[in-house]
Amino acid sequence: MDRLKVLLNQQQIKKRVAELGAQITRDFEGESVVLVGVLKGATIFLADLAREIKLDATFDFIAVSSYGNSREQSGEVKLMKDVDQSVDSKNVILVEDILDTGLTLTYLKNVLLAHKPKSLKIAALLDKVSRRKQPIHGDYVGFEIPDEFVVGYGLDFAERFRNLPDVCILETDEQSS
Ligand code: IMP
Ligand code: MG
Repeated sequence: MDRLKVLLNQQQIKKRVAELGAQITRDFEGESVVLVGVLKGATIFLADLAREIKLDATFDFIAVSSYGNSREQSGEVKLMKDVDQSVDSKNVILVEDILDTGLTLTYLKNVLLAHKPKSLKIAALLDKVSRRKQPIHGDYVGFEIPDEFVVGYGLDFAERFRNLPDVCILETDEQSS
């Protein structure tokens, strides 16, 4: 039996995403940005964030091998899909659901830097700071959260729960018994 406990509700998320969008709008005033979402977890965050960014913007998506059905990161990151359009000389904002160990974003940062963007920033809805194995920080972070496994608002466990409107802590029996 899975148990879900709300960590961040819809209203909190909406408010914070609007703040991040406003900050990005100010930081890139007069310029264009390319939002590069990491499939599939970042899709809902990207959709909401993009509508709070009042700039000329385009979308692209990148995919990496994920957790699979396990909660632990294998440590190995593999690129499954690169960007479709060139980001050469563009302002790129890499949009991710969560910064955990930092392995994924460290890897993706290097993939994108190889495309020679004008600038590269990281937007992450959530940040589990205490789990970091690589020295990487998000430029636009929604919420710092404790070391709990969370689902919803794009985040999954074995591909489920992405459609929950809140970010919830997923407690399984082995954890809660
Ligand atoms: P990192 O490479 O360890 O930073 O892991 C980042 C990726 O792990 C994210 O894109 C998520 O797909 C996944 N992940 C990390 N923590 C969680 C969690 O609490 N719930 C769901 N997915 C997570
Ligand atoms: Mg994932």
